[in-house]
Amino acid sequence: MIDPLFSACPERHGTGSEKWDRWAGRDVIPVWVADMDFRTDPAVLAALHERVEHGVFGYTDDPPGFAPSLAAHLLRRHGFAIDPDHVRGITGVVPGLAVTARLLAAADDEIISFTPVYPPFLNLPGAAGRKLTRVPLVAAGDRWVIDHDALAAAVSPRTRLIWLCHPHNPTGTVFSAADLLRIADLADRHDLTVISDEIWSDLLLDDDVGGPRHLPFASLDHPAARRAITLVAPSKTWNVAGLCCAAAIVPDPDQRRRWRAAGGGLLPMVNSLGYAAAEAAWRHGEAWRQRLVAVLRAHRQMVMDSVATIPGLASIPPQATYLVWIDCRGTGVADPQAACEAAGLGTSDGRDFGAPGFVRLNMACPTPRLEEALRRLRRAFAR
Ligand SMILES: Cc1ncc(COP(=O)(O)O)c(C=O)c1O
Repeated sequence: MIDPLFSACPERHGTGSEKWDRWAGRDVIPVWVADMDFRTDPAVLAALHERVEHGVFGYTDDPPGFAPSLAAHLLRRHGFAIDPDHVRGITGVVPGLAVTARLLAAADDEIISFTPVYPPFLNLPGAAGRKLTRVPLVAAGDRWVIDHDALAAAVSPRTRLIWLCHPHNPTGTVFSAADLLRIADLADRHDLTVISDEIWSDLLLDDDVGGPRHLPFASLDHPAARRAITLVAPSKTWNVAGLCCAAAIVPDPDQRRRWRAAGGGLLPMVNSLGYAAAEAAWRHGEAWRQRLVAVLRAHRQMVMDSVATIPGLASIPPQATYLVWIDCRGTGVADPQAACEAAGLGTSDGRDFGAPGFVRLNMACPTPRLEEALRRLRRAFAR
């Protein structure tokens, strides 16, 4: 059964859509950048209409309902109790990561990330004059796992931060309590700060049917968790990335005081529409979110069924996100991204995530479009 909320999607050509304009004029279905082709939750739209009717859009600090709505959402969804005073509105999770590099590490200090990973995790340390240390995730059966020995070996006297992507993009991995506790122990031993990007934490695909649940890193009962910084946003789940509103949860008062200055003048205020959308999503978006997850779960099955029948392709099913990470190395095709594009499928290139031979497929589109995308995936690797 196709849910009508997720079947009639507006035309996005000519709207400045990064996703759709990349191959403008060509018959390429874009399944790359992480936004969805679905209209947002009607509850979010209603809040936006109401804010527009107000008619004044001056410089805006965090409105009074912003932090409390996030706190209530995190408590309800994840059992994560935060102090609303620790919340700072930011224009995006990526700017938030960039700030932490400047706030908590000095020039040439090192930041650890698990790879393959969302490209800014690879690029931002260098852009800030800090160093990236890569710790590869390992494919173990039906899961991507952390090699904790490799992680421990990667820590040097210059390491300051661990940037956790939790759940992990592009593999869709939900890290377990055991993993998080081992990371916390390591961070504590070496006085590292964990920065946990939890932008995907409301898109776990099986948590309502007994599958893994999201455990916020900062919710652990552990000293390293009490000083961790958490970055969240409504943008992935409610498809409002272009409204540029996210939140940093910063427990340390001194870090909160220095937060904006660490942006070096490049950290604009959040816009009033972004705040309106975020608050509505967190307060009223649960029913829509559940319907979205049901669609994504069905789509994941479609993608996995397809991948399993295309010789040479392999994929570990994502536990979260609407992204499928596909290993194309078994096809013998030297440039899988080029092969997909030639077949009319605009995937994300694994090279951008530090993993040549892989592509990432965004399955958050209407079901018939996904069916056509999967036909093109097959065509890309037909011998
Ligand atoms: C792990 C992760 N962090 C951050 C972002 C982007 O965050 P923002 O648009 O809030 O800067 C994305 C977008 O795909 C992501 O996957």
